Amino acid sequence: MPNKKLKFPENFLWGVGTSSHQVEGGNENNDWYAWEQKGKTKEFSGIACDSWNRFQEDNALVKSLNCNAYRISLEWSKIEPEENKFSQEAIKHYRDLLVDMKIKGIKRFVTLNHWTVPLWFSQKYGWHKKGSVLAFQRFVEKIIKELHQEIDLCITFNEPRLILNKGYASGTFPPGKKNPILYFLARKNLIEAHKKAYVIIKKIKPALPVGITQFCNDFDYFGEGRWQNWLTEKVENFYNWHFFDQIGETKDFIGVNYYYGAKIKLTYPFYELATYEKKVTDIGWGVSPEGLFEIVMDAWEKYKKPVYILENGIADGEDKYRAEYIKAHLRALHKTIRKGVDVRGYFYWSLLDNFEWNAGYEMKFGLFAVDRKTMERKMRPSALEYAKICKENGLILD
Ligand code: BGC
Repeated sequence: MPNKKLKFPENFLWGVGTSSHQVEGGNENNDWYAWEQKGKTKEFSGIACDSWNRFQEDNALVKSLNCNAYRISLEWSKIEPEENKFSQEAIKHYRDLLVDMKIKGIKRFVTLNHWTVPLWFSQKYGWHKKGSVLAFQRFVEKIIKELHQEIDLCITFNEPRLILNKGYASGTFPPGKKNPILYFLARKNLIEAHKKAYVIIKKIKPALPVGITQFCNDFDYFGEGRWQNWLTEKVENFYNWHFFDQIGETKDFIGVNYYYGAKIKLTYPFYELATYEKKVTDIGWGVSPEGLFEIVMDAWEKYKKPVYILENGIADGEDKYRAEYIKAHLRALHKTIRKGVDVRGYFYWSLLDNFEWNAGYEMKFGLFAVDRKTMERKMRPSALEYAKICKENGLILD
């Protein structure tokens, strides 16, 4: 019997992602650099993957995977190193990078804020202060005026849930606050900052799709009972969908970053989240592809907007499970397409092993390994498998 193929829609985008602070190197003027200096991370970001200087090589790697899209982020602290003073040199750098992608036939997905903010911004404002919205607006206006021709899709914020939960509740990301009042103020400002950015971008380039991408989990609960069920639903709605709800119509797509499912346990006086799978990745997250199915179906039922999986990946230093992880998630994603969901793209996280925030360089999400001394990129076997899928626009089931 011939092998069956799960074909993806025509024009489906196959991509990979990275973010500025995690790969560029030399970012010494942002809040994460200050955080690293305080000893809060396992390692310093340093030169990261030196992608600032190697962007042509990286774009060529994307191409070698047969990908037709690449998600990058812009480093605000390089573009606006001092308040209201813009670096034309940095803007030129990003223009060169984006033009190079275009020449290579790669669609440009650009995140305006993948967490890092300039030092002046974190010292004077921070998302909890009102002035943050205006400062972000000014940055957005400038950069979109300059680069709009070189951007194919724009993500204003990467995972506002994590900016808030880690920056303002657990205090494990900068600005390291554990303060419910500041949490709610920051949330309000992030929502406003996104809405304002949407309007600015649309004025400059109405056809450019704009939205956010959110860290989503498929939530479940331990044990039985109405309370757990009720709580699970509330947490799921709040974590996954609240920000999307709040930004109303100022979104042209739903960006989903999906890694794992989480189980909720009631504990006095709060609740705990724990991974429920037996198999866990290097970073301790479970593997539950069926969760991606649930999330995408939920997103579609709620919003009826095109869905992009803008991150999905595994920390797997030995590359033992990565190929199967990707395939399993693609099978789940394909099921949503068969059910009629308008899924437009899948972006594996990440192109390269990179600076994994607090965890430093130990967690390896890359399709390419990066030698920390020579910066040499080395293709992992799973990358070949992914390249096959991208080329075929589908998955052969054997
Ligand atoms: C972030 C990435 C990060 C990945 C793996 C996502 O939450 O957007 O920057 O590397 O998770 O932890």
